[in-house]
Amino acid sequence: MPKKLFIETLGCQMNVRDSEHMIAELNAKEPYEMTSDSSEADLIIINTCSVRERPVHKLFSELGLFNKKKKVGAKIGVAGCTASHLGKDIIKRAPYVNFVLGARNVSKIAEVVEKDKSVEIDINYDESDFAFKDFRSSTYKAFINISIGCDKSCTFCIVPKTRGDEISIPVDLIVNEAKKAVDAGAKEIFLLGQNVNNYGRRFSGEHEKVNFTELLRRVSAVEGVERVRFTSPHPLHMDDEFIEEFAKNPKICKSMHVPLQSGSTKVLQEMKRGYTQEWFLNRINKLREMVPEVSISTDIIVGFPGESDADFEETMMVSKKVRFEQMFSFKYSPRPHTEAAEYTNAVDPEVASQRLHQLQEFQDSVVDDVMHSQVGKTMEVYFEELRSDGHISGRSDNNFLVKIKGSEDLLGQLLKVKIISAARMSLNGEPLA
Ligand code: 5AD
Ligand code: SF4
Repeated sequence: MPKKLFIETLGCQMNVRDSEHMIAELNAKEPYEMTSDSSEADLIIINTCSVRERPVHKLFSELGLFNKKKKVGAKIGVAGCTASHLGKDIIKRAPYVNFVLGARNVSKIAEVVEKDKSVEIDINYDESDFAFKDFRSSTYKAFINISIGCDKSCTFCIVPKTRGDEISIPVDLIVNEAKKAVDAGAKEIFLLGQNVNNYGRRFSGEHEKVNFTELLRRVSAVEGVERVRFTSPHPLHMDDEFIEEFAKNPKICKSMHVPLQSGSTKVLQEMKRGYTQEWFLNRINKLREMVPEVSISTDIIVGFPGESDADFEETMMVSKKVRFEQMFSFKYSPRPHTEAAEYTNAVDPEVASQRLHQLQEFQDSVVDDVMHSQVGKTMEVYFEELRSDGHISGRSDNNFLVKIKGSEDLLGQLLKVKIISAARMSLNGEPLA
């Protein structure tokens, strides 16, 4: 009987890929069967996120529940960014935890499960050319890491302290991963990194120096790759060459996540983002001009220390000008080991909540308009998911979630679809004959 493995993955897509890597490494040692019920698992792993405070608090209550319900002899491990930042304190607070594995130590998973109370959290452990074994949770789409760590020093962000210095993964490894994914049935490649368009500044050994634009060309040239996506680019590194390649390369999907964080140049400076409101708007204008059908999503933090009403109005103004197709907005949450956590000019939490509400209310109205204006359009959709109600769903090239009536046999197909109605989260369509 194979052992059973339960993994809960929180946070970003990097974590999704890290979980896939852990599954692959464990399976290479002995076969595991995945389960969605922690009480029947022999191994329970929580792959954590520490970007905001709330998920960290939740971790310990969740661990307690897993421990109470677990099968006799089952092991519990904490992996990911919170593992990197809390390290052995996790075992102090929850002594039944068997191992702690930092976000940059994923390759050690098969070793640490064998030991008790092991804590592997070296944030500069170099996994950039580690040949991970294969496992993908989707046949249709493949996540591929292109770098590890982050060299920026945004003052709100804990990630450089949980994922360490930035190192690019060699281009031949990435291209090879893309080839393997295509051979296994994927048409879409999703390139992942903390700061993708900084790709190629540092490799750990002697490797061909290639920048992100060239990497995009190489990956899209792999036979069988029909779509390339990536996340996230940094607004500072959006040079003309990159935007032009994005515009003219037909394999690159026309949606981009461009994290603004704040519309106020003063706040951007306090955040050490390295760009101004004008630069951000200039890049977005170029993108919209060159790619009229592009969907742009963003992240915004409100209530950053020292954010005045006037600063917040700048964020509203930029949001009104850009009309992001999608926005993820958050109230600032002070994080340990970050510069901003030392700032003494905190915004009143009530004021921050009110700002968040105002921004989200505006964004909801934009999304309603955007979704309704898609009705009547024809889109190419890559179908990846079977729904429970006789429908299948997939993403349009510019990242709208589209549903049609259909069954399993259409999964993995790229179809032209006419949009017939819209809701807030998704569009309904009919395939064109
Ligand atoms: N507080 C609130 N939001 C944060 N983010 C990162 N750090 C913080 C923080 N301390 C947000 C940013 C980032 C997204 C992944 O999470 O907007 O882009
Ligand atoms: Fe991903 Fe950042 Fe969360 Fe780590 S802290 S899981 S890098 S979002």
